[in-house]
Amino acid sequence: MGKRIHTRIETIDPHRPDPKVIEKAGEILKNGGLVAFPTETVYGLGADALNEKAAEKIYAAKGRPSDNPLIIHITNMDALERIVTGIPEEARKVADAFWPGPLTMIFDKAGIVPYGTTGGLDTVAVRMPDHPAARAVIDAGGGYIAAPSANTSGRPSPTRAEHVAEDLSGRIEMILDAGPVEIGVESTILDMTVTPPMILRPGAVTREMLEDLIGEVAVDSTLGNADSKEAPKAPGMKYRHYAPKASLVVVEGPPEKVAGWISSQAVRMRQEGKKVGIIATEETRASYPDVDVKVAGTRADESTVAGSLYGILREFDADGVDAIYSEAFDPEGIGTAVMNRLLKAAGHQVVRIPEEA
Ligand code: TXA
Ligand code: MG
Repeated sequence: MGKRIHTRIETIDPHRPDPKVIEKAGEILKNGGLVAFPTETVYGLGADALNEKAAEKIYAAKGRPSDNPLIIHITNMDALERIVTGIPEEARKVADAFWPGPLTMIFDKAGIVPYGTTGGLDTVAVRMPDHPAARAVIDAGGGYIAAPSANTSGRPSPTRAEHVAEDLSGRIEMILDAGPVEIGVESTILDMTVTPPMILRPGAVTREMLEDLIGEVAVDSTLGNADSKEAPKAPGMKYRHYAPKASLVVVEGPPEKVAGWISSQAVRMRQEGKKVGIIATEETRASYPDVDVKVAGTRADESTVAGSLYGILREFDADGVDAIYSEAFDPEGIGTAVMNRLLKAAGHQVVRIPEEA
């Protein structure tokens, strides 16, 4: 760990960030420093993507393995032309439809992108976020900002500035606090260097949405498959990520039966003197015993669960629970991304309660 530095925390209006603060953030970035900023998915830890030394600082601040490549954030298509060597027609269609937004695309990289940013790869991940503060910071910082999620490597991604401060205070120059993010899970990653294009990480832009636009889209078969011997294609997806300190078990099945099973498990563990946490939904909240129950949202709209999941995992860390049980969610729409993150956090510990049990 390097020497501690002073981290300046600036509160900004998410829609109309103070130009003076943005200018200061831009200066820090242009001088090779680190600024954490909000995007609509999660908070990112920004550095000048074309400055290898600056990008390297990200790895040190996060404790991130150096073979795990960074996403370059831009605000316009001209910037894309400069950092990649060719833009497939389908990528232009996807960009037209979903940029700016919660989507990252992988391209062959151009020479000006340092290997320090791509983890040694000849491809580069690019995202054009929609958050006004993110866009202002990217422009102020020179237009090409490398930004992984602004958490310590292995912890859940930050959905509020407080999470960033928890992990990175003393290690970065500035945190821009624009309140809680909108989506809560990281961007969809779509690899445009293969045919058909392949989803390497599910997010708010779903496979169905992409297929409606460009036809067949593949999904990295190692995702959601605990038994896979193959490494996932996005290098970062192989690390035990998003992980709470307690053991986490995901319980699948009819919601009432799931709640019943988790409840008896929780009562038993409490009798053994263990502290138990439960991730519930508005629909099932009332069926649980008096333990640490957190409501992730409603089954009627799983984007509510996406929005609260990482914050809840951090709260359970702070509560010091020994075991967490979570209900499973429908892997439809953004539920696909929620289940992907939840199963990774659980190290793929899943219990299935049959219909007739
Ligand atoms: O929503 C998001 O994407 C957030 C915000 C801040 O933009 N960023 C984010 O970055 O989640 P990070 O670094 O936490 O995750 C990036 C993922 C990693 O799994 C990494 O391995 C993968 O993208 N990735 C980056 N470049 C790649 C490449 N050239 N080929 C394959 N995977 C790549
Ligand atoms: Mg991350």
